[in-house]
Amino acid sequence: MYSQLFSPQNVGLNRCSPRCYYVPRHGDEPVSVSLNGKWQFAYFDTPLECQDINAVKFDREIPVPSCWQLYGYGQLMYTNVNYPVPYLAPSVTPDNPVGIYKRKVKNPRSERLYIVFEGVASLFELYCDGRFVGMSKGSRLQAEFDLTQYAIYDEIELVVKVYTYSDATYIEDQDCLRYNGIFRDVYLLPRPKSHIRDFFIHTDLTGKVEVDYDYAGASEGRPMMSVIHPDGTESETLSVEDPQPWTAETPNLYCLHINYNGEDIYKNFGFREITTDNAVFKINGSPIKLRGVNHHDTHPTRGYAVTAEDDERDVKLMKNNNMNCVRTSHYPPNPRFIELCDRYGLYVVAETDIEAHGTERLVVDKDPSFLIAGNPEWQNAFVDRMSRLVEMHKNSPSVIMWSLGNETHFGENHVKAADYCHRRDPSRPVHYEGSTVPFRYRNDRTINKCVDVRSRMYPGIGMMEEDANDADCRPFFLCEYLHAMGLGPGGAIDYWNLIYSKDVLCGGCVWEWADHAVLLDRDNKPVNGLKGVDDRCPGDGMHYAYGGDFGEVPNDDVFCVDGLNYPDRKYHTGLRTIRNIYSPVTFRKMGDATDIQHSTIALVNRLDFTNPKDMLRCEMRVMCGGKLLQKTNIDIDIKPHCEKVIMLPQFKPDKYFPIYADFDFMYKEDNAFAKKNETAGMWQVLIAKPLSDLPFEEIHGTMPRLLSKEGRYVYVECGDVAYAFDKLTGMLAQAEKNGKEVLESPAYFTDWRAPTDNDRNVRVRWEEQYLRYARFLADDFNAFESRGSVYLTFSGHVVTPVRMPIYEVKISYIINGNGMFAKVIGEKDDRTLVEHLPRFGFCYPLKKEYSELRYFAKGPLENYVDFDVHAHYGLFTSTVEQQYEPYIRPQECGNHTGARFVTVSVPESDTAVTVCGSGFEFSALPWTPEEMTDVRHREELPASDKTALLINYKVGGIGSNSCGPRLPDELKLNDKHVEFAYLLRFSAI
Ligand code: GAL
Ligand code: MG
Repeated sequence: MYSQLFSPQNVGLNRCSPRCYYVPRHGDEPVSVSLNGKWQFAYFDTPLECQDINAVKFDREIPVPSCWQLYGYGQLMYTNVNYPVPYLAPSVTPDNPVGIYKRKVKNPRSERLYIVFEGVASLFELYCDGRFVGMSKGSRLQAEFDLTQYAIYDEIELVVKVYTYSDATYIEDQDCLRYNGIFRDVYLLPRPKSHIRDFFIHTDLTGKVEVDYDYAGASEGRPMMSVIHPDGTESETLSVEDPQPWTAETPNLYCLHINYNGEDIYKNFGFREITTDNAVFKINGSPIKLRGVNHHDTHPTRGYAVTAEDDERDVKLMKNNNMNCVRTSHYPPNPRFIELCDRYGLYVVAETDIEAHGTERLVVDKDPSFLIAGNPEWQNAFVDRMSRLVEMHKNSPSVIMWSLGNETHFGENHVKAADYCHRRDPSRPVHYEGSTVPFRYRNDRTINKCVDVRSRMYPGIGMMEEDANDADCRPFFLCEYLHAMGLGPGGAIDYWNLIYSKDVLCGGCVWEWADHAVLLDRDNKPVNGLKGVDDRCPGDGMHYAYGGDFGEVPNDDVFCVDGLNYPDRKYHTGLRTIRNIYSPVTFRKMGDATDIQHSTIALVNRLDFTNPKDMLRCEMRVMCGGKLLQKTNIDIDIKPHCEKVIMLPQFKPDKYFPIYADFDFMYKEDNAFAKKNETAGMWQVLIAKPLSDLPFEEIHGTMPRLLSKEGRYVYVECGDVAYAFDKLTGMLAQAEKNGKEVLESPAYFTDWRAPTDNDRNVRVRWEEQYLRYARFLADDFNAFESRGSVYLTFSGHVVTPVRMPIYEVKISYIINGNGMFAKVIGEKDDRTLVEHLPRFGFCYPLKKEYSELRYFAKGPLENYVDFDVHAHYGLFTSTVEQQYEPYIRPQECGNHTGARFVTVSVPESDTAVTVCGSGFEFSALPWTPEEMTDVRHREELPASDKTALLINYKVGGIGSNSCGPRLPDELKLNDKHVEFAYLLRFSAI
């Protein structure tokens, strides 16, 4: 029995043929009878325990839709590439828990009765009043059954037997938490005997509308069809004069109204045309760029069972962050998600539910395609899954590409699936990243003709340039890039400077939209159910869990926590970077203008169809150290793909602070996804550099005294400040202001950062070199008083246990009324095996009461040398607590580049520490890098007992190497020569 049930050739039994997505209505009322809600439930460890469906005792209840792992059944599991089961294809493991659902429903007594399941994982069988109705596979694809002949009594009893695993598990090996159950809507559709079954709306830009349709049952006359226009008027002629085209920027929807046999079917459609000639991806004749993101159906308490509100929130947030494209990685989403994309305006790369990534871990061959992608046994499954996606969403204007699935290598079955798309729907290009498999395994650049758009994931810039220069006449798309795991992604701007410069590059989708995690309560039980989770750090001992937290084998640890948003859709800093990169108006070369002094600047309209002035206004604010010097409205009447040159105002340089012009692009009015005055993008230009190196007036007069230099410590006093320097570490060990200690513990050199997710590979090399234990050790020392200052010099090396020294370093201090001026000079030792450092900086652990911040640097959000597009220079205030970014797995965070000063102070007092310099990097956090290292969850950090003020010469680049390319050399911190100076004083400025 099982061999037949689990055979890949058997993709379903008695399932209706696929059709486009709609719910028929009577006038305004949907005819559907929802079967969502409580079902009776029984759960068995193996199918051996429940072979006789009629003998099952139902002693529990479970809500539908839901994922049963979130209700205490089965195993919570996160696995990426590895299959969750042994590979027994074409069969499946007998260790295969089964959940059985039962409920009664009143028979709606119609001529025809259907039941629709929008999503069930994995395989399910359906029974009605004890009789077998059918079976389906394809977890995220609609399955419809004709119940007419089974629904005899006034009340019918439905039983759904759901298997955790099936042969489908081998082709649903997507990188996500592995859930099961009836996780999307279930409903009955009572319909007349003769009804419209499926229809395909064909349009062109001239306004022609043709509808192909078919009936179920013998036709009883012709359906009445009309078109409802965007203004609400309804016309009986289908074709439309002067149609308003659909684009992501102008989501003009028309609606086909079919009235037949008492049923009304409404289906939105649009006038939208796609071409890819000469390798340029065009919509309605205009080249476009896809500013996209990958989206999974994922929720911390609902799993796959996302609600309509969840979907709408995601779509609005994507629009709010300037995205115009979404790839439904790696399966068809809840169908209403596509309808929302039609309505709000997002281009959809619709991917079908096929991924056989696990096959690559099974065989010695580099290319495992023979197992599934090229194995005729699976052909039926591929074409079945492709056709069900295409049929379901063929009328949606938002869908601009069909994707054959993900990471299944490449074989004849893909060609067959692509053939289906081309035959059935020549209007849309086909995409599949795996078509580059020959390239990867056989060094053969030929990409199979079955795809119309070439694509790749995570190439570096160099490789993308090569792809762009290839003679292939198909557009090039990044189906995944910028792995957004943890802190990052760095380097985003380089991708877009290249994409905007080459027609063949049509954009890409960031990996990925949201962190996947499970919200657990204090007893480590899933916080299931329909409770909302809208707090950033859920209270009551609730915490996020990820792979390995459930004791599951296999697991892939934290790799599922890799989104631009936290699980509850609060943004990571990365989302703000992407928002700015994707902003509707940018400078000609993005990023450039912050570094160079210009007299003019070119604003470029990056929109493909609209003028930014229709939605946005631009305010230019000229700022100097927190002071507003000028505010002007800038005219942004710029045609699509055009630019406008703006003269920059001229200002005399200020003594202490740089002068910047901030261009802030703000929404003019509230709209469907943004509020009036909300920022859509912001860019900054330097107008004038400051004249002085330090941002304050020097203080002369107070004479320092070198009190003693015998023994380990050197004691210096200056006015109300007493210093003790450690001759071993060359650093301040104690500092008293007015007799009160400022430091919680001695200051120290550090080259460490709590490894970010993007450091996960390089970390191994850092650990090999013992970098987290690196110290500066002085072997020579000098101290003297001269002309109103005390001079100290410590010479020595940055060393780690075991290895050669990394740097030869000299730290000198000049102490006087201005404070403590520190100068650091370093030369990298040629013999060291350390290629590059996480950081080169100094940690001053301050007393905990130093908890407020005022600074001039890039902000207000954390930023790094290659991760700063979201930040701008300015004067900001904050608190140490706010500076900490609560990534689910703690890691480096909270840095600010380009600092001129930072004051950390005790609230409501004049007790403060200030560090000044000309462009240093700093962070002020509740924990030191060492404390944050090796902590798996943010809740496991110890109670903070200090403010760790880090003054950095530099922090190395962030990149996106958690899955993306290695950090480019120019972003590595491996300076041969280090020269760094800062002034530390024990007061605010
Ligand atoms: C890609 C894959 C995604 C995800 C990502 C890493 O290779 O397509 O599903 O696994 O890597 O987060
Ligand atoms: Mg994968």
